[in-house]
This record gives sequence, structure tokens and C-alpha cells, in this order.
Amino acid sequence: MKVFSLQVFCIILHAVILHCHAQARYTFVVEETPYTRLCNDNTILTVNGQFPGPTLYVNKGDTIIVDVINNANYNITLHWHGVSQPRNPWSDGPEWITQCPIQPGANFTQTIIFSNEEGTLWWHAHSDWARATVHGIVVIYPENGNSYPFPKPDVEVPIILGEWWKSNIYDVYDESLRTGGDPNISDAYMINGQPGDLYPCSSPGTFMLNVDYGLTYLLRIINAVVQDIHFFAVANHSLTVVGSDASYTKPFTSDYITISPGQTIDVLLYADQKPDYYYMAAKTYASVFNASFDNTTTTAIIQYNGNYTPSSTPSFPNLPFYNDTNASVNFTGRLRSLADVNHPVDVPTNITHEFFYTLSVNAFPCPNSSCAGINGTRLSSSVNNISFVYPSIDILEAYYNSINGVFGTQFPDFPPLVFNYTAQNLPLEFEIPRRATEVRVLDYNSTIELVFQGTNLLAGADHPMHLHGFSFYVVGWGLGNFDKDKDPLNYNLVDPPLQNTIAVPINGWTTIRFKANNPGVWFMHCHLDRHMSWGMNTVFIVRNGNASNARLLPPPSMPPC
Ligand code: C2O
Ligand code: CU
Repeated sequence: MKVFSLQVFCIILHAVILHCHAQARYTFVVEETPYTRLCNDNTILTVNGQFPGPTLYVNKGDTIIVDVINNANYNITLHWHGVSQPRNPWSDGPEWITQCPIQPGANFTQTIIFSNEEGTLWWHAHSDWARATVHGIVVIYPENGNSYPFPKPDVEVPIILGEWWKSNIYDVYDESLRTGGDPNISDAYMINGQPGDLYPCSSPGTFMLNVDYGLTYLLRIINAVVQDIHFFAVANHSLTVVGSDASYTKPFTSDYITISPGQTIDVLLYADQKPDYYYMAAKTYASVFNASFDNTTTTAIIQYNGNYTPSSTPSFPNLPFYNDTNASVNFTGRLRSLADVNHPVDVPTNITHEFFYTLSVNAFPCPNSSCAGINGTRLSSSVNNISFVYPSIDILEAYYNSINGVFGTQFPDFPPLVFNYTAQNLPLEFEIPRRATEVRVLDYNSTIELVFQGTNLLAGADHPMHLHGFSFYVVGWGLGNFDKDKDPLNYNLVDPPLQNTIAVPINGWTTIRFKANNPGVWFMHCHLDRHMSWGMNTVFIVRNGNASNARLLPPPSMPPC
């Protein structure tokens, strides 16, 4: 990736002091690129031929410009995951929500406005399942002159978890749509684009991290996996968590982490063990009962520098068992905002809107029970029993230009039917959702408390829910049904973690709070791509406020529909 221009804007203050702000500009060419993994030649979509894609480095508060050029044969959009993009949904990227896709041969210039984010985020394609290979890390350093709220690490290392199919990801996607069943499971997981040496035909490329004894390494870990939550650990080394989703956390030490698709976790690793080779490894946390999943393990190797005779095989970390829900939620439940003088929390306490959203995997009947979902059905998913249907003009344009008939504004604040959400053997007719394109319109500066309730309709599952346009405070969570009388008494309003993605536990609930102070059209969805394509999505439209700095920025030139 090349910065092909650096535009410098200067403001003359008091005629003598020059304030200059550099605005970097990048070119992202989306193209088809040959890559070989597991001795299998494939052609994947990449940005600038790189897999994983180029890293963006910014400082807190920067604005950058990315010229996206689509040289591929597929429609594409790019999203800057976790960047709240104040007043600028125009460049947010989810297809059919804030823009129409960039067609083959076309281009789109996106302006990415960083504000409060500091730490690690990422960018990825937001069209079909292209993000499987079209993704990269965004490193957000503190503002110039500021430092990390922890001792400066000696070395920083991105760790991107990914997922690989030997077949073309578009074929996997199309086939799952055609059959109505679960998509084919992947062939491998990857660390920094490499499956590692537990897979056949994969050792030579294994990612190696050379470390010096005594140094501290900041691992910026991103879960870019498409379909599953992961456990990750390093043999003999504990991990000190210091941040998640571009927000600092109170440091805590753990032998493993749980990381959801969409989420980032920054950890410190101290190279303080006997010089040797050590595995780092990641594998699926798969909670769905009786569903098939890719049960392989991806590895990389930490290799101490120096003269020594390494053990014959590197030691292997203890990863929790694949269906260990306690291990999953116990880790996530330990995340706390730093909440110090320089990083205060700002949890909304005067709540203007309380929402309760059920998250369900559903099934539509299929003619002659001919689909590949359970009992011949077509798999679906929903929020408050609405399975989201993408419109054919993007919602942002329809909203901005008052085009009727594209979306409705009746997204329900509560589920249409109250039942024992997490019971076993729920009646079949509950499994059929309604197909619709409904949004929830919010006044500027509304304060939202939203309880996500996972249901056990077809099969309970963990749902990593992601909100565009905002980070939110995770004030509570639990297993089972949410109890509106008891559970709020235990909310953490002191130092709840500030996330953009949070895994709602299987047959459990999670409560988030945020302030709707970002005008625009903002997508919210499960970050497991199969659940997203089945409809576990919804949209918030936040109206303009009165002040001039509380209104949408003017639209740039958008890709045509
Ligand atoms: Cu990481 Cu809507 O996406
Ligand atoms: Cu989900």
C-alpha cells in the first residue's frame, strides 16, 4: 500500500502559529489474486494483492481518505469496523444499508473519520461473504504526545485470525442460499494468513514470531473469522489484556482469550520463559448443539532468539474444550473499562428508550420439504421475529432523499410474542419469522438500553452482535432468560467495557447502553456471516440534531444503484 499523496491542511492562528493536520490518502484496489493454501490453488479477492490486506496506521482523531477501485468481477463494499464515523454514514460501507455496491470497474472514495477510538480495529468487505479474504488491521495510536496507559511494549505484532475454504467463498455462499441449509464448513483457520503445521501441506508458511528474552510484545488480535467465535492461547505464556475494540481495559491476566468475529483484543505478552519454541493456537468455540463445525486448530510459533537446543516439539497451549461455554463467558465477563482520569466512562444513566430484542435462528417451510435445513426447511434468523430483507436501493439514500417504499419504520421495540425463550423443544410455528425491511428511528441524543435475548428456537447459539456508528457499554449479561426485576440490579455502571461487538451467550442475554449522538443510518447485525445473511440484522436511523455539528455531513459522490 502506498500513501500516494499527503494533503496538508494548515490553519493560521493568531497570524503566527501554524496548525497543520496531515490527511493521508490510500488506494485500495480490490482484485482477484491467486493464493495457494493446503496445496490447493485458489483465486481470492484481495486488496492490492495482499492477504491479509494492508494495515492502516493512524493516530486518534485522524481523518483519512481511501480510494477504493473495484477491479474484481464481483460487487464490493468496504467497511471500517468499529470506526464510529461521526455524521458520516456515507463512508460506512454495508451494502444496501449506506450505499449501493461498487460495481466491477467502478470506484468510490471513502473518508474515514476517527474520533474516540484508540487501539486496534480493522476494515473488511461488507458485501456477501467477501470479507473472508478482504480484510486488514487498523492500528490507532494515541494522539501525538500521548502514550499508552501501560508500559510501552518493545514490539507490536498484529495477529489476525482468519478462515479458509478450498472452494471459492462465493460458491459456498451461493450454494447455502440455493439449498437453504448450513454453509459448508471451512477447511482451515489461519493466523496471519497461514493455517500452521497441524494441517497437511501447510508447515512451510507457518507464521513465526521471533522474540527476545526479556522484551514485552503487544499482540493486536483481530478475529476476522467468518462463522465462529474462537479461543486463542500461547503455550507457557499468560496474556495480559489491555484493550478491546479500540478502548482500553483494566489490565488482567488470562491463560486464554475468547474472541468473537468482529472483536479485537490487545494483549501484552512477556517473553519471560525458557528460550525455546512455543505454539500459539486458536480453535472454535462452537456452542450449537449437533451442528457441524470446522474443528481444526490453527497454529503459529513463538521462537526465542539465542543459542539453545529447542525441545523436539514445541509445547502446546491448553485451549478450552470446543463447547466450553463457561470458559467463553468467563473470559468475556472479565472485560472492564479502564475508567481512569484520562479515560473516563460515560455510561448513559437517564435512559429514554428501553428495547428488548430476541435473537433467533429460525426455519421457513420449503415446498415438499426440499431444502437442506433441519427437516427440509430453509434456515433463517431474526431479530424480534423479523428476518431482515435487504432493499434494492440503500436505506441511507432512501432516507436522505425521502424515497418511499424502501423501508418501514415499524421495527418493534419488544418481541411480538412473549414465551419462555430458552426452553427446550419450543413449538415449531414459533420458528417462522416475518420477512421485512424495518428500521427504528431515533431522535438525536436519545439514550438507549437494549437487552439482547438469545432464544432456543431452532438451536440456541452465541451471537456476536455488532453495531455500526457507535461503541456501546456492556452493562450486564447472563445465561437463561433476562429477569427485568432482578438482573438490572447487578448492572455495572462503573466500569463496563466499551465494545462495538459483544457475544450474546447461548440461551442467554446481554444488555448494552449507548447514546444516539451520531446522526445517520447504522446497521446492527450478528457478525457470524451465515446468521447475517439469514436475516439477523436491523437498522437504526438517528435523526439530525438542531446544532449544525449535529447534522449529517453532505453526501459525497456515491456509487450508483
Ligand atoms: Cu464488521 Cu457490519 O461489520
Ligand atoms: Cu448469530
